[in-house]
Amino acid sequence: MTTYNKVDIKIVLLLCLVSISSLAEAFGRPAASAIVKPRQTIFNVLAFGAKPDGKTDSTNAFQAAWDATCKHPEPARLVIPGGEFLVRQVKFEGPCNNKSPIFIQLRGIVKASIDTSTFTEPEWITFEKIVGLNLNGGGTFDGQGPAVWAKHDCSAQAKCASRSVNLKFRNVTNAKIGRITSKDPKGFHMCINSCNNFRAKALEITAPGDSPNTDGIHVSNSNDVTIAKSVISTGDDCISIIQGVNRIKIADVVCGPGHGISVGSLGKYKDEKDVHDVLVKNCTLINTQNGVRIKTWPDSPPSAATNITFTNIKMENVTNPIIIDQNYCASAKSCRGNKASNVKISQVKFINIRGTTPTQCAVKMHCSPSFPCQNVQVANIDLKYVPVLPTNALSKAVSECANVKVAVAGFVIPAPCI
Ligand SMILES: *[C@@H]1O[C@H](CO)[C@@H](O)[C@H](O)[C@H]1NC(C)=O
Ligand SMILES: *[C@@H]1O[C@H](CO)[C@@H](O)[C@H](O)[C@H]1NC(C)=O
Ligand SMILES: *[C@@H]1O[C@H](CO)[C@@H](O)[C@H](O)[C@H]1NC(C)=O
Ligand SMILES: *[C@@H]1O[C@H](CO)[C@@H](O)[C@H](O)[C@H]1NC(C)=O
Repeated sequence: MTTYNKVDIKIVLLLCLVSISSLAEAFGRPAASAIVKPRQTIFNVLAFGAKPDGKTDSTNAFQAAWDATCKHPEPARLVIPGGEFLVRQVKFEGPCNNKSPIFIQLRGIVKASIDTSTFTEPEWITFEKIVGLNLNGGGTFDGQGPAVWAKHDCSAQAKCASRSVNLKFRNVTNAKIGRITSKDPKGFHMCINSCNNFRAKALEITAPGDSPNTDGIHVSNSNDVTIAKSVISTGDDCISIIQGVNRIKIADVVCGPGHGISVGSLGKYKDEKDVHDVLVKNCTLINTQNGVRIKTWPDSPPSAATNITFTNIKMENVTNPIIIDQNYCASAKSCRGNKASNVKISQVKFINIRGTTPTQCAVKMHCSPSFPCQNVQVANIDLKYVPVLPTNALSKAVSECANVKVAVAGFVIPAPCI
C-alpha cells in the first residue's frame, strides 16, 4: 500500500480543486459567452490544515483559509468540503482585496466547540466588513447548543459567550446566502446587523421548540433585506425585526415550532432608529405561539414603526395569530410597569390571513394610550377557534382592541373591534 505524506495530499487536493474549476470554466460554458464568470481561485480549508474528523480543532485553518481568500486580489472561493469540522470562534472579516464577490461554499458540517471559555465575543461565526459575499453549498452550521442550554443563565451578563449566535453578519453589503442549514445554536441562529442589500433564501433553520431564546433570524439597522423560501423551526421568534430596519421583505417562509414573525421588540433602547417598509407575504405558521406580531416595550423612548404589511398568511393552530402588543415585556423580571409606550405604530395592514387558533381571542391589538395606532387595516381574515379539547366547539373567535381604530374591508372573522 502506498502511503502519502500529508502535505502532498493537501497539495494534490488543492491542485485537483483548482484544476476541476478551471476545466469546468474551459469546457462547461461556451467560450465566447458574455456570462462566463472570471475563474475563481479555490482556497480549500483542508489545504490550510483543517481536519474533517469532527474532533480536531480546525479554527486556525479556517481563519488562515479566510485570510488568504480575502487578501486574494482576484475572484476567490473558500471551500469547506464534506466532513465534520470542529471550530471555536472564527471571524470572516474584511475589508477584502477582491473586486468581485467572495464565494464561500460549505458542503460539510461545521461544529461549534462546546467549551466557550475561549470565546471573546457572544458570537460563533462572524462575517464583517465585507462587500460582496455569496455563502451557499448545502452544508450545516451546528452550534451544539444542547451542551449549554440547560447550564447557563445569561440574564445577568450583557455579553454572554455561552449564548453565542451561530452566524453574525455585521456591516456586510451585497450578500447572497442560500442553501445553508443552521442547527442548534447556543443563542440565536442568525443576526443581520448593519447590512445593506442582503438576500437570504433556501435556509433551513432548526432547533427544538423548547430550546431557550434560539431566535431564527434577527435583523437590526439594515436596509433592503429579503428572506425567502426558508423553513424555520426553533424555540423563539422565527424572524424578528428590530430598530433601524428599512425595506425588508419576507416571503414563502414556513415557521414552526417557534414564536412567529415579529416586528420588535421595539423601544427597548435609547435613541432607537425607526422601522419602515416591512412586507411579510405568503408565509405559513404551524403550532407557533404567535403568528404575525408587532411588539413594543412600555415606558419606552420615542421611535416609530410604519408601513408594515402582512399578507397571504396561513395559520395552523397558532396561539396568537394577529397581535399588536405595546405592553410587551420579555419576562416578569424585566417588566417596566404600566407607563405607555412611546413607539408610534402606523400604516399597518393585515390582508388575507386564514387558519386556526386554539385561543378564543384570535386578534389582539393593544396599542399605546399615548400614541394610539394609526391607520390600521384588516381585510379578508378568516380565523377559526379550534380548542385543544373540543369542549367549547360552538364558541367563535373574538377580537380585542385598545387605542386603535381599525378600517375593515372584505370579510373579517372574527368580527373586528372598530
Ligand atoms: C464597513 O465595512 C467597510 C468595508 O466593507 C469598512 O471600510 C467600514 O469601515 C466598515 N464600517 C464600520 C462602521 O465598521
Ligand atoms: C407560498 O409559500 C409556499 C411555502 O409556504 C410555497 O410552497 C409556494 O410556492 C408559495 N407560493 C407562491 C405563489 O410563491
Ligand atoms: C410601503 O412598503 C412597501 C414595501 O412593502 C413599498 O413598496 C411602498 O412603497 C411603501 N409605501 C410608502 C408610502 O412608503
Ligand atoms: C395546538 O396548540 C396547542 C397549544 O400550543 C397544543 O397544546 C396542541 O397540541 C396543538 N395541537 C396540535 C394538533 O398540534
